[in-house]
Amino acid sequence: MKKVFVKTYGCQMNVYDSERMISAMEPSGYVETKSKEEADLILLNTCHIREKAAEKIYSELGRLKFLKEDNPDLKIGVAGCVAQAEGEEIMIRQPAVDLVVGPQSYHRLPSMVKTVTNGKRALDTEFPEENKFDHLPKDLKRRNNPTAFLTVQEGCDKFCAFCVVPYTRGVEVSRSPEKIIEEARSLVDRGVVEITLLGQNVNAYSNKHSGENYTLSKLIWKLSDISNLQRIRFTTSHPNDMSQDLIDAHRDCEKLMPYLHLPVQSGSDHVLKKMNRKHTADDYRRIIDKLRKARPDLLLSGDFIVGFPGETDEDFLDTLRLIKDIEYGQSYSFKYSSRPGTPAANREEISEIVKKERLAELQTLLKEQQVRLQKKMIGREVNVLFEKPGRLAGQMVGKSEYLHAVHVTGDRIRSGDINKVRIITSETNSLSGRIE
Ligand code: 5AD
Ligand code: SF4
Repeated sequence: MKKVFVKTYGCQMNVYDSERMISAMEPSGYVETKSKEEADLILLNTCHIREKAAEKIYSELGRLKFLKEDNPDLKIGVAGCVAQAEGEEIMIRQPAVDLVVGPQSYHRLPSMVKTVTNGKRALDTEFPEENKFDHLPKDLKRRNNPTAFLTVQEGCDKFCAFCVVPYTRGVEVSRSPEKIIEEARSLVDRGVVEITLLGQNVNAYSNKHSGENYTLSKLIWKLSDISNLQRIRFTTSHPNDMSQDLIDAHRDCEKLMPYLHLPVQSGSDHVLKKMNRKHTADDYRRIIDKLRKARPDLLLSGDFIVGFPGETDEDFLDTLRLIKDIEYGQSYSFKYSSRPGTPAANREEISEIVKKERLAELQTLLKEQQVRLQKKMIGREVNVLFEKPGRLAGQMVGKSEYLHAVHVTGDRIRSGDINKVRIITSETNSLSGRIE
């Protein structure tokens, strides 16, 4: 048996891809290891979204190359979005790298690994004709986690001016509903009770199947027919694809959880236009209004970028205003990072100091909102899907419908159980409660 170690960076889609890479290597006699030192093959599944994320890869490679001194047969591969964007450059910058594989061609990993074990180097960053999903093993790994990701859509046609995704992941492609349902059933058969549907633009999901057009809401409804599947989530979405049928599903589909990640990036129309977001701040407010009418307890999460080229103090205040109006329970915020090849790459950047100050102010506001909404949960009853032991002895941790981490003490709680829990306290990033 040979051993493969995979380190995952970036988004949930990479988490999903890493699992599929491991299962793709199984027929070639590889099993997963959690130790780099034991590995015969190390794969870094990388993220290119911001400069920092990409630079991390080169530092990690600089450390990993020394493992080859103790284990000359060790092979090192780079997968994911940095591989896609900088394939040749990686090979030149770090001679210890044996293979580079892009996110659309990792079904070819086994043959690439064969090539590199024969002493050659291998690079594949094509967008192949064949669909990788048709060439990956169907038999997914046995799972011990009750939650799973399932990629239903990849790529993006939106071309926001700051974003590398349309270049690293390509145009929008939606998998066939039949294959998705088959994969969901197989996950549920292995004990999964919650599935998060993934896509860079998941709510743009659209696939014609047997003469019918499947939208994301239709897919959600179909999946909700799988009786042992208890919970469905999806991420990440674009406001312009938040169609009425999907909003209605938040009202009508019991298995669809009341949590939505809907990035807005900025609250200023001026900046949104420069970002090529194709919506205004008020369009976003209106969508949120409709969603909250459909599902009043919906917990909202967002992504924000500060310091986009041309962002003035007034623009930044518009973003703070929008955040105050909406109230987010969860958020991800970033300083703008110029990415090569994107339309905004050559624009004049605003100073790092201003970016830093704006990010600090924005994050203080978002943190206050998160804490306030978390505190509001005290005394309320939520349904927790338990996943794993908590930090303290006898404790289990799981997620509420609203994706809050919830700690509960109890010997009889098993991973995969869903229990009603009364919330007692709110800590920095989690809640604690007891089973009633
Ligand atoms: N700079 C900073 N943040 C970015 N994001 C995407 N591209 C950039 C960039 N160039 C953020 C956006 C997106 C999230 C996944 O990452 O907020 O929604
Ligand atoms: Fe990037 Fe915009 Fe597409 Fe999201 S919608 S992946 S931010 S281009």
